[in-house]
Amino acid sequence: MLELSAATLVGKGLHREVHVHPDDDSKCVKVVVLRGEEETRREQAYYRFLQRRNIDWISLPQFYGNEETNMGPGAVFDLIRDDDGQVSKTLAFYLDNLSSTPELVESISQALIKLKRDLLEQNIITMTLKPKNMVLQLRNDGMRCLIIDNIGNSDIVPISSYVRFFGRKKIERKWGKFKQSLKRDDSQQQIEVICKRI
Ligand SMILES: Nc1ncnc2c1ncn2[C@@H]1O[C@H](COP(=O)(O)OP(=O)(O)O)[C@@H](O)[C@H]1O
Ligand SMILES: [Mg+2]
Repeated sequence: MLELSAATLVGKGLHREVHVHPDDDSKCVKVVVLRGEEETRREQAYYRFLQRRNIDWISLPQFYGNEETNMGPGAVFDLIRDDDGQVSKTLAFYLDNLSSTPELVESISQALIKLKRDLLEQNIITMTLKPKNMVLQLRNDGMRCLIIDNIGNSDIVPISSYVRFFGRKKIERKWGKFKQSLKRDDSQQQIEVICKRI
C-alpha cells in the first residue's frame, strides 16, 4: 500500500489531492477527498476509451490504473514536470502572473494553439476547460500545454466521441467557452492578446 502524506503532496483541487508516487517520482497518485467518485469514474472510462484508440499522449498525462493508498484508492498518472525537473505549474498560475511576464504571451499562445490542434486531430473530448486544470510544461523545445483534469464525455449518447464531425463541433464549442471565460475572468491586456491568437 502506498503511504501518502503532507510530504508527498503536490497539488489539490476541489475533489482530489495529488501526490508524487512514493516509488516513482515521474508519476502522481490522485486520491478523492471530497465527493469526486462520479468524476473519477467518468475520467477513467474515457481514459480507457483513449487507450483502446491508442492515441499519442501529447496533451494528456498517461493513466496507469489504480493503486491502494493509506487515503483510499489512488489513480496513477504521469506527473508532468518541466525539463528542469520541477513539477509543471498550471495555466492559471501563468495567467495570474502575466503582467510581470509579458514575454510569455507568445509561447503560451503557441502552446494553446498546439493543444487545440491536437484535441481536434485526435478527437479528444473535454468537459469544461479551465486554466487550473491545464499545466504548461517548460521544455527545451518550447512550452507544451496539457490537460490534467476534466476530460471525457458526459452526454447520454456520446456521439461526439465516435463521430469526428460531432467531436469537432464539441471541441470548438468548448474552446469558444474557454476563451470567453479567460476574457471574463481577467481584463489584462496580455490575456486579450492570447485570446485573439488562439
Ligand atoms: N498530472 C499532473 N501533473 C502535474 N500536476 C498535476 C497533475 N495533476 C494534477 N496536478 C496538480 O494538482 C492540482 C489538482 O489536480 P486535479 O486533478 O485538478 O484535482 P481535482 O480533481 O480535485 O480538481 C492541479 O491544479 C495541478 O496543480
Ligand atoms: Mg481540477
